[in-house]
Amino acid sequence: MPRTPSIKTKLPGPRAKKLIKLDKSYVSPSYTRVYPLVVDQAEGLWVHDVDGNVFLDFTAGIAVNATGHCNPHVVKAIQNQAERLLHMSGTDFYYTPQIQLAEKIARLVPGKGGKRVYFGNSGAEAVEAAFKLARWHTKRELNIAFFGAFHGRTMGALSLTASKTVQKKHYNPLVPGITHIPFAYCYRCVYNLCYPDCDLFCVQWVEDTLFRTTVPPEEVAAIFVEPIQGEGGYIVPPPGFHKKMYELAKKYGILYVADEVQSGMGRTGKMFAMEHFEAEADIMALAKGIASGMPLGAMVAPSDTMDWEAGSHASTFGGNPISCQAAMATIELLEKSLMKNATLQGDRLMNGLHELQKSYECIGDVRGKGLMVGAELVKDRETKEPATDWRPRIIRKAFEKGLLILGCGENSIRFCPALTVSAEEIDLGLSIFEEAVKEVCS
Ligand SMILES: Cc1ncc(COP(=O)(O)O)c(C=O)c1O
Repeated sequence: MPRTPSIKTKLPGPRAKKLIKLDKSYVSPSYTRVYPLVVDQAEGLWVHDVDGNVFLDFTAGIAVNATGHCNPHVVKAIQNQAERLLHMSGTDFYYTPQIQLAEKIARLVPGKGGKRVYFGNSGAEAVEAAFKLARWHTKRELNIAFFGAFHGRTMGALSLTASKTVQKKHYNPLVPGITHIPFAYCYRCVYNLCYPDCDLFCVQWVEDTLFRTTVPPEEVAAIFVEPIQGEGGYIVPPPGFHKKMYELAKKYGILYVADEVQSGMGRTGKMFAMEHFEAEADIMALAKGIASGMPLGAMVAPSDTMDWEAGSHASTFGGNPISCQAAMATIELLEKSLMKNATLQGDRLMNGLHELQKSYECIGDVRGKGLMVGAELVKDRETKEPATDWRPRIIRKAFEKGLLILGCGENSIRFCPALTVSAEEIDLGLSIFEEAVKEVCS
């Protein structure tokens, strides 16, 4: 019998209510919980809350549990390593899992020549490391990033982030010298142009306007970019965007940094989303799905770019043995079958959403690659007025019906289930989503 969600209590249930009350006393109020889910355990695509309710998870813990919750192969790798060595610090000592994982990642990342890997514990740390390396290597002080970008919340990464003002409020001054420019968000092109007639004007604008008026290109260390914008709304730039931007960067000796924290590690059906655009990057930031839920971030750069000296950057916990083993088990599964499944089920999800789009006016745009899929909600297809107030209501309804989804951007919903998702689970998720949309938007 196919599995279905099971909601036995009002949400939140009595145990969840008690824990949330306790949380409100002791846990930082800066977290943004969108609905009152208190998780007890999970396996595959299925999450059990503390009251025995069971949910179908299309969030994968914000695109992290790539191999499904508690994948047995990953859990075994963690258990085996936990019995041998928990920590020794790769900053001061050598150990096998860190060296082996660095070799594996260096060989996975496309591009000519040797690569080296720096390990941290999170996406922000991977970006932070890229930020520092770009300065170190180029000895330049300026950087470029995109509106809508999310690169993390530590002060350096936050300076590159341009997603929501609440993330920056009261934290200024941030790292100086960063200029944000429009991303290739074709559904809402700021230049009011259409691809392909635009001839990628958004890239040309950087050279013709930005570099001539305010930002001397010879002072720019790096351009930071998400291959597909994540938190900003699951926005897929048009073909040719990254290639043209990379070529522009090369013309002026600027490093192109691909933040693959959300889009990487097989989520889009290829190991790295940049591969969809047949474009290169000089530096890559990885995290989230890399270790199926164990904390790990990685920054990868060509050996001759990663030329900083001993002591210039490090982390006590970064690349700890357990996270490294979890990452190796994860990559093994991605290569064996999960990237293929991401393409297959991603197509099914996209087709399903396109079908729904025919019936529901409020689904203005459907976009994505593999299992990184977004649906943008609008009040009116013509005016594209963002349906910002409908989005939380749809997410809440879905939760009450047993489907876990999250928002992104101002008015979009993201679908980022584990890469182990089955066709039946995709269909089930779509049908619950449709019920929620129908109840809110009709
Ligand atoms: C593209 C991107 N970069 C960086 C980060 C920051 O990662 P973390 O929350 O692990 O610091 C995120 C998190 O959502 C992300 O999506």
